[in-house]
Amino acid sequence: MTTQFEIQGLKSSIEGKEILKGIDLKIKGGEVHAIMGPNGTGKSTLASALMGHPKYEVTDGSVTLNGEDVLEMAVDERARAGLFLAMQYPSEITGVTNADFLRSAINARRGEGNEISLIKFVRQMEGKMKELEMNPEFMHRYLNEGFSGGEKKRNEILQMMLLEPKLVILDEIDSGLDIDALRIVAEGVNAMRSEDRGFLIITHYQRLLNYITPDYVHVMMQGRIVKSGGPELAQRLEAEGYDWVKEELGIVDETVGQA
Ligand SMILES: Nc1ncnc2c1ncn2[C@@H]1O[C@H](COP(=O)(O)OP(=O)(O)OP(=O)(O)O)[C@@H](O)[C@H]1O
Ligand SMILES: [Mg+2]
Repeated sequence: MTTQFEIQGLKSSIEGKEILKGIDLKIKGGEVHAIMGPNGTGKSTLASALMGHPKYEVTDGSVTLNGEDVLEMAVDERARAGLFLAMQYPSEITGVTNADFLRSAINARRGEGNEISLIKFVRQMEGKMKELEMNPEFMHRYLNEGFSGGEKKRNEILQMMLLEPKLVILDEIDSGLDIDALRIVAEGVNAMRSEDRGFLIITHYQRLLNYITPDYVHVMMQGRIVKSGGPELAQRLEAEGYDWVKEELGIVDETVGQA
């Protein structure tokens, strides 16, 4: 079955302030959608709301993955259903090694009675780390603790590769990556592109999209998707910035503003 992810009229608030003001987005398996937009327009909020972050209250709308109601699911159920988020600022967890964390995440996704064997897990993790040109020592380091910015981002991609999600959300995966790491991470993403997997890639820069060609590019302002197009839209934004979009749409302040 090919993946179908659908967001309809999604509204979300934080501490009573409405940030997302009605998001509509449909992502099919095999597609890569990029979301761009100025700072503070709701991009990370969308990612957090989709993953079920407790701070972000969903006040309206629906989200379905292959017909299943995502908003009804607890956070761990969303991961099990195949949602994955590489966060803009990955958290550090002291006392839990990267390998322990990944193995429990994989097993949670596979379900009881279907756990991965230790040998198979280690082999897979080693293989993927090699593809990402990560030092094997990162297997036994505490999760993200003391990782450099770029190391954290590479580690997020490692998680994605091992978890084989159905809908991948990457929030500024390119921030902090050096030139070689950007290419390595993009290759990792491209290798994961398939008919039963969709991608939502939040980025500020066309540069990433030179490596990962999106099918659709969306612009977010004021907590809404205000414009959509193909890869050429990202190129125009890179060259000209956002003023022309604001002018075209009569937007003065692009941030989510005060509720
Ligand atoms: N936990 C929170 N508490 C208070 N305000 C919040 C919280 N989370 C988000 N906001 C506000 O919501 C707005 C949107 O934030 P969000 O992180 O979604 O922006 P963004 O589009 O991802 O920006 P950037 O490009 O800088 O990452 C911002 O004004 C932000 O301050
Ligand atoms: Mg953000």
